[in-house]
Amino acid sequence: MIFSIPRLLTIGLLASVIPAHSIGRMERFRTVVTTDMEQDDLASLVRYILYTNELDTEGIIYTSSKYHWAGDGKGTKFFLPNREYNTSQTSWRWTGTRMIEDILLKAYAEIYPNLRVHDSAYPTAKDLLSKVKIGNIVFEGEMDKDTDGSNLIKSLLLDDDRRTLYLQAWGGTNTIARALKSISDQYSHTKQWRQLQTSISRKAVILASSFQDQTYVDYIAPNWPGLRVEDFATAYNTWGFNCNKGQGNVRALPKAHEYFTGAWIKANIQIGPLGRLYRSWLDGQHTPGDQLDVFGNYTLASAPGTWCKPLGPYDFLSEGDNVAFNPLLTTGLQDPSNPALGGWGGRSKLNSSAPELWRLVASETAANGSEVRGWTTDRWIAAASNEFAARMQWGLKSRYSGGNHAPEVRIVNGGKVKARAGQTVKLAARVSDPDRDAVTVSWWQYLEEGTYPGEVAVGGYNRNGASVKVPADARSGQTISVIVQATDDGEFPLTRYDRVIITVK
Ligand SMILES: *[C@@H]1O[C@H](CO)[C@@H](O)[C@H](O)[C@H]1NC(C)=O
Ligand SMILES: *[C@@H]1O[C@H](CO)[C@@H](O)[C@H](O)[C@H]1NC(C)=O
Ligand SMILES: *[C@@H]1O[C@H](CO)[C@@H](O)[C@H](O)[C@H]1NC(C)=O
Ligand SMILES: *[C@@H]1O[C@H](CO)[C@@H](O)[C@H](O)[C@H]1NC(C)=O
Repeated sequence: MIFSIPRLLTIGLLASVIPAHSIGRMERFRTVVTTDMEQDDLASLVRYILYTNELDTEGIIYTSSKYHWAGDGKGTKFFLPNREYNTSQTSWRWTGTRMIEDILLKAYAEIYPNLRVHDSAYPTAKDLLSKVKIGNIVFEGEMDKDTDGSNLIKSLLLDDDRRTLYLQAWGGTNTIARALKSISDQYSHTKQWRQLQTSISRKAVILASSFQDQTYVDYIAPNWPGLRVEDFATAYNTWGFNCNKGQGNVRALPKAHEYFTGAWIKANIQIGPLGRLYRSWLDGQHTPGDQLDVFGNYTLASAPGTWCKPLGPYDFLSEGDNVAFNPLLTTGLQDPSNPALGGWGGRSKLNSSAPELWRLVASETAANGSEVRGWTTDRWIAAASNEFAARMQWGLKSRYSGGNHAPEVRIVNGGKVKARAGQTVKLAARVSDPDRDAVTVSWWQYLEEGTYPGEVAVGGYNRNGASVKVPADARSGQTISVIVQATDDGEFPLTRYDRVIITVK
């Protein structure tokens, strides 16, 4: 089978120009963002909102966390040990419930007419505004009452849309926990409960930017053990707070340092109505309500006792919460139905099956063969950063030709490929680019995604084809993962991928 197909398929780089097309709504990943609106959440939302053309955003919900809670407005004092405060408080670093509506979505509305030129699937600011709700915000871990936010999540979990509902936790998991508890309170005494709990546990996936309150451990894990939860704390190596530890700004790998420097961020990200909301070191910005947001001011940020020392002006500060949606971006690589596959969000391993918890791997094997900590997310920095910059340009360019748009790449004889040990598998890809850019195609083995433990030779056989020699010592049932990667030559080069998993017969 495999050998007969490639003849049909050697398609020239520029042969077919496919007009940019939008993904139909029902094919998009369905998701809810819950956020404590720290300044790094705002920065993450700046990135997120540029991807709303590809995701079905069902909610953007304020929630509390151990770092941010609103208080009850009656002066009730609250205290938990080992927090940033050491006496009881009436609220903590709370940044309010208007920033998304009054700041982020207003900026989005300004650039929306331009974004639409580049993809008509972008939702209107009004549409997104209708998804903004206030969840459980009163204290850390508060899940005492139903809120607009928890009710929205509850209704999405109970509706008849069969798609997976990806619930992102950028702060605490408390609003999500409240929604689950409310469902349990209402239905656990009914006959259908077992079936309902099973179907909700299959429908929901929690993507957590670490656990920022106790509600996962205390409520979700013991009561919803079949609900898949993924913890992305390891990705902070790449995207979390970038503090000066005496070596200067050395975030990411040497080849990708540039994307974390002030020069690059100031020129390419902190531009235009939306980009200027992004946050970087010493950029003069401050979030009202958060007394520990001193990152914009050198005097305050370098004062004795601050936990994160400043880097240079506009250097990368933190965008800790994109870790929760990177797995959902549609580059051809990420497959959120299977966290064991890698991609811009990193590759995860099952940590425990009941409760079902996945965590990112700590390291992966770099091209030179050494195990590198954080490589599972660091390896995609150039591609992810260029795409962020290209999308920021969409918001500024009123003509389609003024922006760069991603190429498309598909392995045409992929799917379920089976081959014997020693056999050579020929693969072919169809490649196109909506801007008629030249596209560079490369093929490589994603070593850790396969169960065959060794390196496999992946060679090119023509411009868009590759031959993969299944090693003679490969055993029946082992798998080899091969990625094709296509990068255009636009101002901010854009990359798309496809994958084939070869199973040894
Ligand atoms: C309380 O916390 C502050 C920092 O938030 C610290 O400066 C201070 O020393 C602490 N006080 C006590 C009594 O631990
Ligand atoms: C930084 O903070 C200091 C101390 O509060 C203040 O005096 C100064 O004006 C601030 N600098 C800027 C540029 O806002
Ligand atoms: C689960 O995660 C914890 C924390 O990262 C780690 O110490 C432990 O080894 C993991 N267990 C498994 C089975 O992966
Ligand atoms: C191998 O490559 C990684 C990633 O580029 C790098 O961090 C590491 O220092 C390299 N190791 C050696 C021994 O060259």
